[in-house]
Amino acid sequence: MSQQSIVSPDSKMADVILMNYLLLPVINRFGIRLGFGDQTVEQVCAQYDVNLSFFLDIINAYHDESYFPREKMRGYPVDMIVDYLLKTHDFYRQKMLPETQQLVEDLIASCPSECDNLNMIADFFSIYKQELENHLASEEKHFFPYVQALTKMEEGPPSLEKIRSYYDFSYDNHSEEHDNVISKMLDLKNIIIKYLPPNYNTTLCNNLLYWLFIFEKDLKDHERLEDIILLPALRNIENRLMQNL
Ligand SMILES: [Fe+2]
Ligand SMILES: [Fe+2]
Repeated sequence: MSQQSIVSPDSKMADVILMNYLLLPVINRFGIRLGFGDQTVEQVCAQYDVNLSFFLDIINAYHDESYFPREKMRGYPVDMIVDYLLKTHDFYRQKMLPETQQLVEDLIASCPSECDNLNMIADFFSIYKQELENHLASEEKHFFPYVQALTKMEEGPPSLEKIRSYYDFSYDNHSEEHDNVISKMLDLKNIIIKYLPPNYNTTLCNNLLYWLFIFEKDLKDHERLEDIILLPALRNIENRLMQNL
């Protein structure tokens, strides 16, 4: 399987990982664990009761940014998309953020002297971590339940207005938060690349940077799904309900 290959139902799941190891956490998010043997993607999805078409679209969109069948992906049930996004949130909270914290702490602990810039990086990360956690929590409180509530709604306004104000969802705030979490991740990488003190530990620093590149890629993909699939779905539902006036 080449780098540009699109994963198909007949692809061997093991080959998918060998083709792009960054897909491993994405596959794990579906509850799928290693030890596939020679099973195909279709067989593994059947074994784990995962929707094959949704799995392929998520995997291929992550693997190849030019692959993004918007209309098809907008046709998946909102609950299925939200469930995947929530699993990604758990992955950030339970894995990416704690691991990053540990790597930052290891780097600081390795600094023999003149560690001011490293402390600056640690402070920047700790603020970023809080902001990202707030963003995840805000989506779980305002965005996802609002979309889910609307999909279950059959009548138009005034119920729409009532539900919108109950969940207090704002398109502008959401978009601002996305810009913020993505741009600050880039800032964090830049600070490390540009301002590390000369006595830094190369291995620990490289580990942190590699990790941040992986984290950033995953985060961008996550926000892209929310912006390009879930937000338009929300607008469509809102418009439909408004037309039912
Ligand atoms: Fe999210
Ligand atoms: Fe988000």
